[in-house]
Amino acid sequence: MRERFPLLAANPGLHYLDSAATSQKPRVVLDAMREYYERDNANPHRGAYALSVRATDCYHEARAKVAKFAGLADADCLVFTRGTTESLNLVASAWGRANVRAGDEIVVTAMDHHANFVPWQQLAREKGALFRIAPITHDGQVDLDALGGMLGARTRIVAFPHVSNALGTVNPVRAIATLVRERCDALVVCDGAQGAPHLPVGFDDLGVDFYAFSGHKMCGPMGIGALLGRRAILERMPPYQMGGDMIEVVGDEETTWNVLPHKFEAGTPNVADAVGLGAAVDFLEGIGMDAVLAHERALVAVADERLRGLDGVTVHGPAAAMRSGVASFTVAGIHPHDLATILDERGVCIRAGHHCAQPLMRRLDVAATARASFYVYNDESDVEALVSGVREAQRIFDGHVARG
Ligand code: ALA
Repeated sequence: MRERFPLLAANPGLHYLDSAATSQKPRVVLDAMREYYERDNANPHRGAYALSVRATDCYHEARAKVAKFAGLADADCLVFTRGTTESLNLVASAWGRANVRAGDEIVVTAMDHHANFVPWQQLAREKGALFRIAPITHDGQVDLDALGGMLGARTRIVAFPHVSNALGTVNPVRAIATLVRERCDALVVCDGAQGAPHLPVGFDDLGVDFYAFSGHKMCGPMGIGALLGRRAILERMPPYQMGGDMIEVVGDEETTWNVLPHKFEAGTPNVADAVGLGAAVDFLEGIGMDAVLAHERALVAVADERLRGLDGVTVHGPAAAMRSGVASFTVAGIHPHDLATILDERGVCIRAGHHCAQPLMRRLDVAATARASFYVYNDESDVEALVSGVREAQRIFDGHVARG
């Protein structure tokens, strides 16, 4: 597998364990993007000439592939964005501004990434709505009883992550959506940034209104992502940005909007990155998303067992079988940033910090964690390098303590 990723093939000593931040890119993705620019590049939707038609076809094919991958039958309900952050801001800005009123309630969870937390917090402030945070259980799962108790007649939006970026907890999306439907008439928004890259999604069966993800965490390029929505909602929702391609008729006083998905894609689209994401989806489907998840869970189970076996190491979150390929841990007496620096000297790349999830860190009562995240190109040698690096860090710090 490493041979299929040029960066990994060129760096045999590298143990890349930061795929939750961004994945490495397989050669097929890089080739697809280069070939698009070398063979098919023009501005889509605009030219009457054959090259522009080819560019348009490439863009539409990419949309169809990505929609199919995510289990969305109506591909026109997939809006290409810059990534999950833009997708979530789009919904907060366009739907939220039009529909949330003073006294309404917006519910998020304590494990949301800032991108699915701050837009809703700020919308609530702007509108005079109540911003509520569903708690997590002691082992890092959404507390469904508490969440259910927060839902009522004033709830307008419920937002939650498919998978926690900081802990790897896989949330029961369908069960949460059902709970919301039973108790209130709220918009259900799922942050799939850490879901779509790691497990089958099946948007049409999830029961959510919106689902967002990023290409760069799933073997695709940076700068492209998707927002999947239900047609009836997208058609009623006002546009997010104004410009070329998203209009139908521009009068001196009034303007009408293009059909879906163009209504939400103002300006020249990011065709090459969409093509790259299409190739990434082909690549992942070639492996199979069930196999991707099984591979990650097998590695994270070994990592958990080995890390938990070390003195002073705490692995946060639920059991490995309830997580994707993330191991978030702290080591007594060693700041995660120091640990990451020592690991880096041994070619092991992890993320250390609050993982853009400060509300979660407060509830875990830690300032930061070290996070190792696994993907299709990792194997047990990466786990081994991680664990021996942690042991080395403990030896270095024990030495300091002993000398100090
Ligand atoms: N959201 C990305 C992460 O969790 C950047 O690392």
